[in-house]
Amino acid sequence: MEHITVLLNEAVKALDIKPNGVYVDATFGRGGHSQKILEQLGQEGVLVVFDKDPEAIKKAEQLASGDKRVLVVHSGFKNLAYELERLNIKKINGILFDFGLSTPQLDEAQRGFSFRFDAPLDMRMDNSQGITAREWLNQVEEKELAEVIKNYGEERFYKKVAREIVSYRENKEIETTKELADLISRVIKVKERGQHPATRTFQAIRIKINQELEEIETVLPDVLNILDNGGRLVSIAFHSLEDRIIKQFIKRNSSPEQYPKWVMIQDDGRQETLLKSIGKPIKPSDEEINNNNRSRSAIMRVAERTKGVLDD
Ligand SMILES: C[S@@+](CC[C@H](N)C(=O)[O-])C[C@H]1O[C@@H](n2cnc3c(N)ncnc32)[C@H](O)[C@@H]1O
Repeated sequence: MEHITVLLNEAVKALDIKPNGVYVDATFGRGGHSQKILEQLGQEGVLVVFDKDPEAIKKAEQLASGDKRVLVVHSGFKNLAYELERLNIKKINGILFDFGLSTPQLDEAQRGFSFRFDAPLDMRMDNSQGITAREWLNQVEEKELAEVIKNYGEERFYKKVAREIVSYRENKEIETTKELADLISRVIKVKERGQHPATRTFQAIRIKINQELEEIETVLPDVLNILDNGGRLVSIAFHSLEDRIIKQFIKRNSSPEQYPKWVMIQDDGRQETLLKSIGKPIKPSDEEINNNNRSRSAIMRVAERTKGVLDD
């Protein structure tokens, strides 16, 4: 299936595109948001797109070959500062993050993200490098495995699942998605509504393999440095772990009373912060959810860079 872009109009509107501005789509995917950004960008504008996934990068390069405003970076977005410096870009007017996986990644059995198919356990967004889920799962210590399943999957049966994985692999390597899903189904007897017993563990392993949360934690301070005054940060998260990082980051940098490290006392006694939260968090409409079930857990947050201490 094709990827259906989530909160397309809302996210691009929130970027508040200036025709000659410089924008970053940190998660190109199949370029749904990028296309819309380009529609609003003038001929002097620039759009830098990032993705870890070689397939996404192929699509991005096709787009760039017909549009000189597009610059393509095959990298995790945690390298934002380094990559923009390499491109000689000093300031940007907006950045969009649409976290998680694209539909083609989930639908292609060989990528090993989904227990809907029986395929080798891979789960790398960038399958041109790094360690696969299979490699990790067959050598990780039980304690670390349990922690990952608990923290990244919020799975209450984390100990049981970790124990079962470790005892299974004493006899045989875990090789496929189905093998792992079946093994988890044997130990988790309680059914969560509408959810396969392996959902949480699969999420946890995927987050671990791709260092998904570390990528977000690493990039956010750099976003703050590189956003021009009035520049926008727009993020779409699909689970509470991602959303919590963004929410706390925006809060921390927009509330001087709580976080005095960033406070600047003006001559007139006013305090300034580096970010201003824009509007309330936005969720997809019922209509969007009906058309695209994957959008149901999305939550979008927007913040604007204000003139803060770093500009002095
Ligand atoms: C939900 S899709 C984005 C869809 C896109 N907005 C569209 O409309 O087509 C997420 C994409 O981000 C990529 N991705 C996720 N985390 C990333 C990271 N840390 N660095 C770079 N790319 C990442 C994934 O490989 C995937 O292609």
